[in-house]
Amino acid sequence: MPGVTTPELVTQVAAAGGVGMLPAAMLSPEVLNGTLDALGESKAGAFGVNFLMPFLDPACVAVAARKAALVEFFYGEPDAELVARVHDQGALVSWQVGSVAEAAAAEHAGCDLIVAQGTGAGGHVRGHTSLIPLLSEVLDAVEAPVLAAGGIATARDLAAVLACGADGARVGTRFVAAAESGAHPDYVKALLDATAADTCLTEAFSGMWPDAPHRVLRSAVEAAETATDDVVGETRLGGQALPVPRLSVFCPSAETTGRIDAMALYAGESVSHVRGVDPAGAIVAELVSGAEEALRRAPVS
Ligand SMILES: Cc1cc2nc3c(=O)[nH]c(=O)nc-3n(C[C@H](O)[C@H](O)[C@H](O)COP(=O)(O)O)c2cc1C
Repeated sequence: MPGVTTPELVTQVAAAGGVGMLPAAMLSPEVLNGTLDALGESKAGAFGVNFLMPFLDPACVAVAARKAALVEFFYGEPDAELVARVHDQGALVSWQVGSVAEAAAAEHAGCDLIVAQGTGAGGHVRGHTSLIPLLSEVLDAVEAPVLAAGGIATARDLAAVLACGADGARVGTRFVAAAESGAHPDYVKALLDATAADTCLTEAFSGMWPDAPHRVLRSAVEAAETATDDVVGETRLGGQALPVPRLSVFCPSAETTGRIDAMALYAGESVSHVRGVDPAGAIVAELVSGAEEALRRAPVS
């Protein structure tokens, strides 16, 4: 989650037994290399690097493949040559997909792990199917482990997808409000006040990344569409100061200034269950122990 994920968030998720994911989009190979060295030295646990295919920098992929346990790709056709390049350096490869055809293609390309993303997900949304029907189809179609993504914020949600057969889950929106998140405080407050009904799937924030639907808070679309300035603020990414054009992809970090309310406030339907700012490690522990408990109590057929 560029602008939201901090190295501390990755570390705390990894230390709690999850796989902390670092976004590589718009980072230079040098900045990525330094960040991965620091994460490795923390010895917190497993972490991965996520690449958005429209912004892919092969030099960054080479760095990630050498230094992370997992390299993940999203929003592009699964590519066997890219997967092989990562494998050659020793990392596992995952592909986040939005359809059963894309999941089959990811497995065919050699991926070790597939993330099935339903349309309730926050951020960019790849497919057209909601999570449970997609997950069921993907589990039938592939042999690789499958994680469920989109709408998971509570132990009950995690138990539900595990009971369906998922091997784990990807959680996004809930961590935007984690104590270690780099999200702007006004963005976090907007999440805490919102429910699923306040989100919408839109192509409004397409500046710099067209033809890629995304789920955001509807209030952000309304504010951006009525704003009159071409540039609504300034942000920093990978140590660089950047203007935030109106209706562009950037979501506001703590370092962003300007019309925060009119920027891309990515949020999944899971936002209904984002009700407090908790440490990332406590979120992982709550989800895992609560899901275990729920599954233990579930009637066995
Ligand atoms: C603020 C935000 C930024 C995101 N950025 C990325 C990204 O850079 N790469 C990616 O593969 N997915 C990204 N996602 C999507 C997540 O991988 C995942 O599909 C989604 O968060 C799951 O739904 P949830 O938000 O309801 O948990 C992002 C999601 C959010 C909320």
